[in-house]
Formats: sequence, C-alpha cells, structure tokens
Amino acid sequence: MVRISVLLCLAFTLRTFAFPAYQSLAGLSREELDRIIPTLQASAIEQPPGPLNDTSAKLVNDPTHPWIAAKPTDIRGPCPGLNTLASHGWLPRNGIATPAQIVNAVQEGFNMGNDLAVFVTYAAMLVDGNLITNLLSIGGKTTLTGPDPPSPAIVGGLNTHAVFEGKAIPPPDDAFFGDNHSFNETLFDEFIAFSNRLGAGNYNFTVAAEFRWQRIQESIANNPNYSFVSPRYYTAYAESVFPIAFFVDGRKADGQLDLITARGFFQDSTFPTGFFRSGISTGFNEVGAGIAQVFIPHPFAPGRNQGVGNYVPDPNSANFSQFCKLYTDFVQQTVVGLYPSPTGALLTALKANLGFLHGPLGSNCPEVFPYGQ
Ligand code: HEM
Ligand SMILES: *[C@@H]1O[C@H](CO)[C@@H](O)[C@H](O)[C@H]1NC(C)=O
Ligand SMILES: *[C@@H]1O[C@H](CO)[C@@H](O)[C@H](O)[C@H]1NC(C)=O
Ligand SMILES: *[C@@H]1O[C@H](CO)[C@@H](O)[C@H](O)[C@H]1NC(C)=O
Ligand SMILES: *[C@@H]1O[C@H](CO)[C@@H](O)[C@H](O)[C@H]1NC(C)=O
Ligand SMILES: *[C@@H]1O[C@H](CO)[C@@H](O)[C@H](O)[C@H]1NC(C)=O
Ligand SMILES: *[C@@H]1O[C@H](CO)[C@@H](O)[C@H](O)[C@H]1NC(C)=O
Repeated sequence: MVRISVLLCLAFTLRTFAFPAYQSLAGLSREELDRIIPTLQASAIEQPPGPLNDTSAKLVNDPTHPWIAAKPTDIRGPCPGLNTLASHGWLPRNGIATPAQIVNAVQEGFNMGNDLAVFVTYAAMLVDGNLITNLLSIGGKTTLTGPDPPSPAIVGGLNTHAVFEGKAIPPPDDAFFGDNHSFNETLFDEFIAFSNRLGAGNYNFTVAAEFRWQRIQESIANNPNYSFVSPRYYTAYAESVFPIAFFVDGRKADGQLDLITARGFFQDSTFPTGFFRSGISTGFNEVGAGIAQVFIPHPFAPGRNQGVGNYVPDPNSANFSQFCKLYTDFVQQTVVGLYPSPTGALLTALKANLGFLHGPLGSNCPEVFPYGQ
C-alpha cells in the first residue's frame, strides 16, 4: 500500500514537472540541464528560410487562413503580429512554432523582410526558445482562465519582458499587454486618444513619435526601475513602427492605420475582412527609416532611472549609431549570461542559432564566437 502511493506520488511528480518541449533552457543550472535535456526529443538543425520570391501586396485573410478563436490551451503572447498569424493559421494555431515557421509566417502574412525576420526571430529563439527541440512559443502563458490552469512550468516562450532582455531586468512600462498578456484597455485608450488628437483618427508616424515620447516620459515619472537600454531600446522604437508598416492594407499603403483595424489586431488578433498584406517588404532599411521618423522629433539616449524622475543615460548601451554593438552585446552579454557554459547538443545548437542570427548582418558586422568557432 505504502509502495503504491509512493509510486503514484512519483508518477504525479513526473507528470507535473515534465518539461514542456517549447520552454527555454536559458538560465538553468548544469544539474537541471543534465536532468531535462535527456527527456526532450532533439530536433535536427534547420536552416532559416530565404526571402519571398513574390513580395507583392496580396490577400492574406484568405479562405485557407480563417480567423478561429484561440482554444483555452492555445498560447498567445505579447506580440499582436504573431498572435494574429497564429489565430489565422499562418502559424500553428497552438502558438508553438519552429523559428523557420515564424520567419515564413511573418514574411508571407505581413511581408516582413528576410533580414529583419531572421534577426528578430533568432534573437527571440536564443533567449526564449528551446534550442534542443527547436521550438518557441509565442507567449509565456496560455489564455486559460478555467479552473484547471496549466502547471507553473508553462512559462518561457515570448514572455513579454524576458525576451531580448534577460530575466533580471524590470519590465518596460509601455505595452498594451499586462504580464498575463491580456489586452489592457486603459493603455489602448491612450493610443486612441493620441491617434484622434494628432492623426485625425489614424495612427501614423506623427502619432507614433509623440506617443512613444509620452510613454518614455510617463515611465520616467512613474517607474523607479525604468530601464531603456539596448536591446529594449531598439525593440521599443521598432514596435512603434510595426503597426504602420504591417497593419495598413497593402492596397491603401498611405501610412494611416485606422483605429478599428488597429483594435482588431491588438485586441482580437484578427486581420480585417479581405486584408491584403503590405506590398512593401519591411526589412532593416525600411524599419530603420521608420525608426528615424519616430526618433528624430524627440531624440533620446538609452539609459535607466535611478529613482523616480531621475533618468541617467547609459553610454555603455548601444544606440542607433551602433547597430553592430546591439548584435555584439546581445550575443556576449544576453546570450552568454543565459548560457554561461553549454555542452553537448546544447552547445551545438547555440553555435548554429548564433550563426543564423548573424546571417543577415553579413559583412556589415564582424561575427562574434563566444563559444568558439
Ligand atoms: C519576427 C518575429 C517577431 C517576434 C519574435 C516578435 C516578438 C515580440 C515581442 C516579444 C513583443 C513584446 C515586447 C514587450 O512587450 O516587451 C512584441 C511586440 C510587438 N510586436 Fe512583435 N514580434 C515579431 C514580429 C512582429 C510582426 C511581424 C509584427 C507586425 C505585424 C509585430 C508587431 C508588434 C507590435 C506592434 C508590438 C508592440 C505591442 C505593444 O505595444 O503592446 N511583431 N513582439
Ligand atoms: C523562391 O524561388 C526559388 C527558385 O525557384 C525556390 O527555390 C524557393 O523555394 C522559392 N522561395 C520561396 C520562399 O518560395
Ligand atoms: C490579467 O490581469 C488583469 C489585471 O491584473 C485582470 O483583470 C485579468 O482578469 C487578468 N486576465 C487573466 C486571463 O488572468
Ligand atoms: C493597464 O495599464 C494601466 C497603466 O499602466 C494600469 O494602471 C492598469 O492596472 C492596467 N490594467 C490591467 C487590467 O492590467
Ligand atoms: C498624421 O495625420 C495627421 C492628421 O491627418 C496629419 O496632419 C499628419 O500629416 C499625418 N502624419 C503622417 C506622417 O502621415
Ligand atoms: C524595483 O526594483 C526593486 C529591486 O529589485 C524591487 O524591490 C521593486 O519592487 C521594483 N519596483 C517596481 C515598481 O517595479
Ligand atoms: C551614440 O553614442 C555615441 C557614443 O556615445 C555618440 O557619439 C553618438 O552621437 C550617439 N548616437 C546617437 C544617434 O545617439
């Protein structure tokens, strides 16, 4: 009798603590890695996809990609772009994908350029993906609200503030999604108010510049731990550009995002009926030009608060003149910080994924090899 209950107990423990195939291994101890990695089904290394051959505007809310509400077990996260791709089946609807699937989906569904798609996806994969199984989840938590929530093991994935940042840095105070990744109407109302006031009811670059600036000022005034250094510094400005680059119908292409369309993407993860993706492929050059439009009205150096209202610039953080430093610091500080001494299959996968991350930089930035060539 005693033995049976011990066995039941053990079985229960093993089941409860089974390590999800998409959960990141970042930050785990040698002992944890040695225990977990043998339980995972290792995947072969997969090359990143190349660019689209046809980058024209085209129907992407098509009959083979209908919107279907996420099931309680489907994972959604802080990114309205990826959430929408999953809810239309351009990504697996459960929200768990390989990096190649993500690159293909952002290219096909939104016409993101190959350089940007590969760089952002592999950066996310290195921090938040499972390098052994080659899977990444698009959110840190399920949308489950029922009485039987998943085990606490369901963290990792594109957990809003962990991605691109490392787990120790406090959250940026400026996303439409709270820590549980639910849409926050209060914050979206500010987006609406700015768009009404400065964009005549649309979100455009004029609105984007002022709204980003207001978010920064509000964070400085309210968040004693506000941190605005690379890579978050880059992604914050890029995220101001993305709705204009990707959420405006490709046949309209006037840089004016109406608020009904915006709400559809942000709140409901849906393309408008009959939506055409952009006919402009937005890669490094295009997103850089967009960032300039957001940045130039209010140039602002990377840094962090030392107490409320006391923002101190950080000369050690990469800024917009130092794109290679963004890459180098991400590899040498963020990735190495999360994986200080990898071995075996993990080491092999890290080297491969770091190579894929560098791919789009080509000869523009020298490649760094923290784990040897
Ligand atoms: C290429 C792979 C992509 C990855 C890995 C990714 C990841 C993320 C993550 C982690 C965030 C949350 C940042 C934070 O709150 O700290 C985010 C936000 C955002 N993403 Fe993506 N994203 C990708 C592609 C896209 C695409 C294609 C679009 C547009 C179609 C997009 C639009 C946005 C926007 C607008 C936000 C800001 C949301 C907010 O302010 O609450 N992303 N993304
Ligand atoms: C683009 O065309 C080339 C040559 O026809 C083909 O090998 C490749 O798979 C195509 N790429 C995509 C994304 O369809
Ligand atoms: C998310 O958090 C907000 C505020 O903390 C709460 O109102 C909402 O019910 C939460 N949603 C879920 C799905 O837990
Ligand atoms: C939404 O964001 C506002 C402003 O940051 C915050 O005060 C509020 O608690 C958030 N609401 C939810 C439901 O998370
Ligand atoms: C944004 O919209 C406002 C109002 O229509 C307009 O005055 C402004 O020029 C627009 N800005 C851009 C960059 O399109
Ligand atoms: C700021 O960081 C400190 C130390 O890590 C922590 O105790 C505090 O809760 C944080 N405050 C906020 C508002 O996040
Ligand atoms: C970036 O930082 C460097 C070194 O501190 C500085 O010379 C340069 O002007 C800065 N560039 C921008 C765009 O802020």
